[in-house]
Amino acid sequence: MKITIIGTGYVGLVTGACLAELGNDVFCLDVDQKKIDLLNNGGIPIHEPGLEEVVARNRAAGRIQFSTDVAASVAHGEVQFIAVGTPPDEDGSADLQYVLAAARNIGKHMTGFKVIVDKSTVPVGTGDRVKTALREELAARGVDAGFSVVSNPEFLKEGAAVEDFMRPDRIVIGHDSSAEGLQAAALMKKLYAPFNRNHERTFWMDVRSAEFTKYAANAMLATRISFMNELANLADRVGVDIEAVRHGIGSDPRIGHSFLYAGAGYGGSCFPKDVQALERTARQYQQDLLILRAVEAVNDKQKLVLGRKVVQRFGADLAGKHFAIWGLAFKPNTDDMREAPARVLVRQLLDAGATVAVYDPVAMTEAQRVLALDLSAEELARVRFAASAMDTLDGAEALVIVTEWKAFRAPDFDRIKAALKQAVIFDGRNLFEPEVMAQAGFEYHGIGRSI
Ligand code: NAD
Ligand code: UGA
Repeated sequence: MKITIIGTGYVGLVTGACLAELGNDVFCLDVDQKKIDLLNNGGIPIHEPGLEEVVARNRAAGRIQFSTDVAASVAHGEVQFIAVGTPPDEDGSADLQYVLAAARNIGKHMTGFKVIVDKSTVPVGTGDRVKTALREELAARGVDAGFSVVSNPEFLKEGAAVEDFMRPDRIVIGHDSSAEGLQAAALMKKLYAPFNRNHERTFWMDVRSAEFTKYAANAMLATRISFMNELANLADRVGVDIEAVRHGIGSDPRIGHSFLYAGAGYGGSCFPKDVQALERTARQYQQDLLILRAVEAVNDKQKLVLGRKVVQRFGADLAGKHFAIWGLAFKPNTDDMREAPARVLVRQLLDAGATVAVYDPVAMTEAQRVLALDLSAEELARVRFAASAMDTLDGAEALVIVTEWKAFRAPDFDRIKAALKQAVIFDGRNLFEPEVMAQAGFEYHGIGRSI
């Protein structure tokens, strides 16, 4: 099938590359000329395992193209995916300007039937707004072309995006029951048929329910994390090991093991903004989502936990003290630093007067970019971007781990001990066992593990 993807970011590029891999003829559009040039020169704008190979293979096979040409992009696809960003507005609601601009561009150029698919995460009712935008543009041109707006939210995780897209645990498709809606559903069924070979993974529903399902999923996952973080903080006070508790409750199939890891708080471009946007939707309908307000508040506090533990141990005045930080990306296997807990930790330590040496296996370039935005020149001068994990340690009072990269899971503890001024580790992702660390001669501070 001929597919257009509008927005060649995380979701758009992964969707485009994976649909090309399935044999479709994909046109990826973006407004960012630099991104398109990079892709056309064989580069890749994000770190995502496996993506570079899929893009290269399909580019070579002529199944995927990258362009900023709007008219050509609209002419290309019978199905037009909108995968642009929906960042938080000032009041926390989802900013739909990019989605609506993409819709208007389609309306400005389309001449025949198109299926417009909202893949971006959008609040309930956006499908109707996209429809209105398209109708207005068509009316302005006096063109009578049919279309249908479908909701097909994306559930991929960064760091596992290709795998998640290629092996989805579900495909949610919202469409209406008009003749165009049924025609759109038939096209979507054909497009996603390769994923449904062994068993049916698609859930068909109305557009508003599909839009809501995406927020419900992210809100539920964020709730589990904040719930565990809150319990972990209590565990620290009452002498309980949250890791034992996690196993103890996760084995109940009604609870399950995933997303129960206490840590330094959730970050990324999605949970923080989607929890806020759902709260905002509720407020527009005069409902206060008490649970989600708490989820957000707990997470904001949790991002401060590592810094607080450092201050508790070394005092509020950290002037003249140096700390090593491992892990800057908001999670492993990505270079994404949006809402990353490490940014909060760096700010806290610098505010207390410390100097830091930081390292991340892939996010160093991105870290330099975002920390230059977060910090003043004087503050930035107190941050050293180290060449390796071990290179952060010399002269540091302690090591603070924020992201659970695989490369940090079995380090050379003797080298760490020799390099640090004091053998102290703050582990924001509970990578190690407290008893093992004690035996190895470390003072170890995990999250919810003060047993
Ligand atoms: P992103 O910021 O990485 O990419 C968005 C791209 O859209 C950018 O390259 C931007 O230049 C481009 N763009 C903006 N306006 C455009 C226009 N009018 N025409 C063409 N291109 C345009 O965003 P993302 O992380 O891919 O997220 C996109 C959407 O998918 C968001 O709603 C997000 O919540 C949702 N989502 C993201 C993830 C994820 O893991 N990142 C997962 C599931 C859903
Ligand atoms: C999340 C969802 O998992 C995806 O299903 C969804 O499609 C995506 O948001 C989205 O809508 O954009 P992502 O943000 O890429 O994906 O990453 P996650 O693996 O969900 O992690 C989010 C944050 O939660 C990370 O900071 C991670 O460290 C934290 N986390 C995760 C925990 O603190 N504990 C856990 O048990 C799991």
